[in-house]
Amino acid sequence: MSLRSIVAVSKRDEVQRLAREFSRKVLVADELAEALGLVETVNPDLVLIDRGFSPCRIREFIDTTDNHSISVPVVVVGDEEGDTGSSEDFINAGACGFLQGSRDYSRLEQIVSRIKSESVSRGRHPVPRTPSDKRRATESGDFFADDCAASVSMVGRSKAILNSIKMIKIIAASRCNPVLIVGETGTGKELVAEAIHALRHPNEPFVAVNCAALTANLLESELFGHVKGSFTGADRDKTGLFEVAGAGTIFLDEITEMPMDLQAKLLRVLQEKTFRKVGGLKNIVCRATIIASSNRNLKSETQANRFRSDLYYRLNVAPIILAPLRFPERREDIRLLAEYFLKTSTICPHKEGKITSLTKLAVESLMEYDWPGNVRELRNVIERAILRETTGKIGLSSIILDPAECSELSDGSRAGQFTGYSLAKAERELISRALQKTGWQKTQAASLLGITRATLYAKVKQYKIEKGSYIAKEEQNEFSAPGLPRAMPAPY
Ligand SMILES: Nc1ncnc2c1ncn2[C@@H]1O[C@H](COP(=O)(O)OP(=O)(O)OP(=O)(O)O)[C@@H](O)[C@H]1O
Ligand SMILES: [Mg+2]
Repeated sequence: MSLRSIVAVSKRDEVQRLAREFSRKVLVADELAEALGLVETVNPDLVLIDRGFSPCRIREFIDTTDNHSISVPVVVVGDEEGDTGSSEDFINAGACGFLQGSRDYSRLEQIVSRIKSESVSRGRHPVPRTPSDKRRATESGDFFADDCAASVSMVGRSKAILNSIKMIKIIAASRCNPVLIVGETGTGKELVAEAIHALRHPNEPFVAVNCAALTANLLESELFGHVKGSFTGADRDKTGLFEVAGAGTIFLDEITEMPMDLQAKLLRVLQEKTFRKVGGLKNIVCRATIIASSNRNLKSETQANRFRSDLYYRLNVAPIILAPLRFPERREDIRLLAEYFLKTSTICPHKEGKITSLTKLAVESLMEYDWPGNVRELRNVIERAILRETTGKIGLSSIILDPAECSELSDGSRAGQFTGYSLAKAERELISRALQKTGWQKTQAASLLGITRATLYAKVKQYKIEKGSYIAKEEQNEFSAPGLPRAMPAPY
């Protein structure tokens, strides 16, 4: 049973050893502040903290990660004497478990298994690596283009996804290094990076670094490491993530956010395949596959002088470009993805296997939507629908495309704050007018608005629009003007 990565905050070798039992990728920190930097950079599955830190400091640590929207479980490792007296204080501080010393293997095993099952509902979808994981993925039905796609949990049969899968296979089988993946937010860049890694060197570490999460100085020392005394506060040698990645993969997420001077240093690593720690003199060989991703147009970034053009050309050898869901060439994946998320979601354990499909109208409304948050947003919509649905089929009324516009889900204070200015209000009015204008002929009203009947039904229900709603006279005149804008739910 293995997690993708663990951050261990302890000077005790036995705690670090315990962490290594559960993950090939263990990052060690002496202090909680240092651990925070690691957590933000690698987004680990678990943080193990030595009980030498007080419950109060651990609470602070957990609060800070929460404030940065990182939800990472924390387990406190007690000492060998098994002082159970204070375990409650740590749990009250927010830790999800307390071990009776570093040999409390079975307790940690239980926690790890819970984390693994919850990781799917948290939105982390680890690439299946064990034969049974692969079997489960393949058994998930007809969602995958081929065995390879199934083995990396990449749903889709559209031309665009077939193309991406072909590229993934070609790149994984080649020595192409670096690799570039571009696509809008939520299109699956990290999933593709994990897929290339799983196909190329599954038994080596996969290290993901979010380049936007750290300042220039911290990022440099995180990536390359530093030697003791190289700057104030560097009180011991630090291993960088390039070294941690070993012969595996280092995934540089949001590469365009990397500061220019660090871009120059990265270019040197790509050209010479060696790097030096901050303050170090020794050249260290970089054996890792470097995968960079961006949701921006790299070419425009170079034209705006925010990204080095030499680095761009070095990265842009065989880019994998992921099409957004709203593109016609990806639309057929929407239904497949929706059904896949319905089948594999663990968000509501007591409904598992009980909701088996989506109604035609529900599917139509999904097909109509623009999906600014792409696959991640679709997954959220389906999970929200599972929570709401009371029958065996996801119906239109359970599909809430924008939770901020749903009175049941939004908090009253926020809704009140924007009264008079919200997009929801404008949309409601526009729909009311279209219905009024067409005498509540829904097909006509929908065509006037440029949406399907299914979406119109959903909106009427969502906004509780009823016949006879008041509309000011001048607004009606304004409405008769040609070129009525197409109503679209707001991104969230
Ligand atoms: N083709 C797909 N099949 C199954 N799941 C997918 C697919 N594409 C994306 N996902 C899922 O959608 C979610 C978002 O994907 P991912 O994190 O890889 O996107 P991203 O492009 O890295 O987004 P961002 O730019 O916001 O970081 C993940 O849960 C991922 O597993
Ligand atoms: Mg990502």
